[in-house]
Amino acid sequence: MPDEEASQGRLHDEGLDSNDATSRLKHDALLSHEDAEQQLDDPALNYNGSSSLLNLAPEHEALLSQENEDYDHGSDSESFELETFHATGEGWEKRPQKLRLLNNCFRSKCSKVIVAVAAFALAIFVAAFLLRDELRPFIGGHQLDPPQAYLLDPNWDFTAPSTRRDYTWVIEDVEHNPDGVYRPMMVINGQFPGPLIEVNEGDTIVVQVVNKATNATSIHWHGIYQNGSNWMDGTVGVTQCPIGPGANFTYEFRVDGQSGTYWYHGHHGVQSSDGLVGPLVIHSEDEKSLQRIEYASDRVVIVQDHYYDLSGALIMDYLKPDRENAEPVPAGALINGQNVRNCDDLPNRKCDNSTARLAEFNLEPGKNHRLRFINVGALATFQIQLDEHEFAITEVDGTDVLPQYHHRLKIQPAQRYSIVINTNVTTGEAYWLRARMVTHCFAEENIEMAAEVWGIVRYTSSSPLLVNVRPSSRDWPETIELDCNDMDTSGLRPVIAIPAPATADDVLYLRVNFEIGAWKLSRGFFNASSWRAPVSSPTLNRLIEGYSTSNESFTSSLSSHFGYNSAAFATLRELVYQTTGIRTIDILMQNFNEGSHPMHLHGYKFWVLAQGHGYPPKDVFSTLDLTNPLRRDTVAIEAFGWTLLRFTADNAGIWAFHCHLSWHAEAGLLMQFLTKADEVARWTLPAENIGLCELEGHDRGKGPDDEIWYGHPSR
Ligand code: C2O
Repeated sequence: MPDEEASQGRLHDEGLDSNDATSRLKHDALLSHEDAEQQLDDPALNYNGSSSLLNLAPEHEALLSQENEDYDHGSDSESFELETFHATGEGWEKRPQKLRLLNNCFRSKCSKVIVAVAAFALAIFVAAFLLRDELRPFIGGHQLDPPQAYLLDPNWDFTAPSTRRDYTWVIEDVEHNPDGVYRPMMVINGQFPGPLIEVNEGDTIVVQVVNKATNATSIHWHGIYQNGSNWMDGTVGVTQCPIGPGANFTYEFRVDGQSGTYWYHGHHGVQSSDGLVGPLVIHSEDEKSLQRIEYASDRVVIVQDHYYDLSGALIMDYLKPDRENAEPVPAGALINGQNVRNCDDLPNRKCDNSTARLAEFNLEPGKNHRLRFINVGALATFQIQLDEHEFAITEVDGTDVLPQYHHRLKIQPAQRYSIVINTNVTTGEAYWLRARMVTHCFAEENIEMAAEVWGIVRYTSSSPLLVNVRPSSRDWPETIELDCNDMDTSGLRPVIAIPAPATADDVLYLRVNFEIGAWKLSRGFFNASSWRAPVSSPTLNRLIEGYSTSNESFTSSLSSHFGYNSAAFATLRELVYQTTGIRTIDILMQNFNEGSHPMHLHGYKFWVLAQGHGYPPKDVFSTLDLTNPLRRDTVAIEAFGWTLLRFTADNAGIWAFHCHLSWHAEAGLLMQFLTKADEVARWTLPAENIGLCELEGHDRGKGPDDEIWYGHPSR
């Protein structure tokens, strides 16, 4: 697996192998909800809940102190002067003394030695110049390619015969300081963000998950169809029980009928926000023609909001009584897991930024380069730009699209956009890659927050002496957008045109809202339903059990072609819409809430037919352009607006449909589609899946039950 080798290699460069790094970062964090709650109750901790978890191990301190020169990017980020190495200046000061020594030497026998040394030095200099790109990582005393560079293999074989790609992932609790601030995290193989999966369409992905963390977990493969492997979808409470602490589970599925940029993430509680995220790229054998602009390099760029506290603590606070629309506000943001915070700004945090770096990207000048952006965050919409570089959007959520040019990209959580830039700008050798969280959509202020994270794009022609030079590139003059809607995708046309079916068999009207119920609890609703994950009794397990025992409440509905299934499910907590055979379904969502919601349907891509403010026009169905609408898997419904989707329900299984703001899904904004139920009725569930529900501790780390607050409305 080239990607694994590559990342291992980079770790070695730092003198750390991944195990080593893991064990150094490892701590005995107590990550359960009970503990989180305890910390919350302690006013002294004042929600820096994790401070007791943040004691540095002595080995770790040693590791940090051997690290090198400061690369602080904090309060001074407005003035970027050319900075070369300190070493150069020092050399000049000592020069007169050196000259005297040289004079004495020429009169003595050591002159031959001097000539030899000079020749040697010259040879080294020439070699260094010729190998400047290769040596670049060492020149500044740190690596320019981050541990997770996510550079895609330039020699990739797009036409290789279908193969099986095996991975072993050990999930552990670690203490890590991606931007300087230490926090407890859950990571895969000691890496954050997680390892890249790079495969061809038709390949089988096999991931053995070894859970060495304190909490149970699961991994969901965002956007993957899982056609014929619904039980590998990784969705706790829908397709599986969590993988208990100490347990293993192997995900195995074939990727077929799709290509492009996807990702994976924890799907138990809000674990994705604790570090369980990573990229998954599927190459089509036609990739070169599906992408209409040829490019010289291809890579993934992950952006995300970043919290300093465990999601378990944050969700307890968010879901407690009297907390309407108060989603936890992130403290910062990361690009490929990197940023540098100024520790002086964060006096209440354990912070050491000496190992923190800004993400850097080395691009060959005069060429096109593809950047695959993924927003893996829990809440924030990002606006992203590479200063002074216009770019073309060429892919959206795995759908190749005809290039459309922009200055800024707007990307909601769980969405992906590929952009292609041309490194033909001549104003400098380095440019800021700015990723800005749209803070306008946050409910509260977070005094710790740094709303922007910047990366650096360097043209590789730079002389080795310029590798530490900060960009002095300019921002675009357009004002920054303040809303968290989707960017306007109505003009984006898929390269492979697929007309949407002319009509749908059924239209679901979904009312999206947050409502305050008993004990002042604010919860997310689709119509009158608010989901609570049945962690120990996933929908799929119940369905298969019900069908195989000919339980009437499950079998009776199989005679109707589509509709809500209220026979088998208590719709107040589990809204399940069911189809048999192949149906075309419309989802018309109306948002009665003041926030925008990126809605994601598992197992499918849908056509985005229309989006708008207020209410849909009366003639909405007669004015649709069905010739080739954008197909994607995550679409926003704007505040007090509406969105119309259409999809062909032809993939057998139970599929979650939910808001991808992780806090909202946990607050209940999730429903399910049981499609081709007649086929699901013939399935048997693999023993491994059933076994997960029997494991001790499999519910560790689940969200709080509402009942804990009953009778304690102000707790
Ligand atoms: Cu990324 Cu349930 O999804």
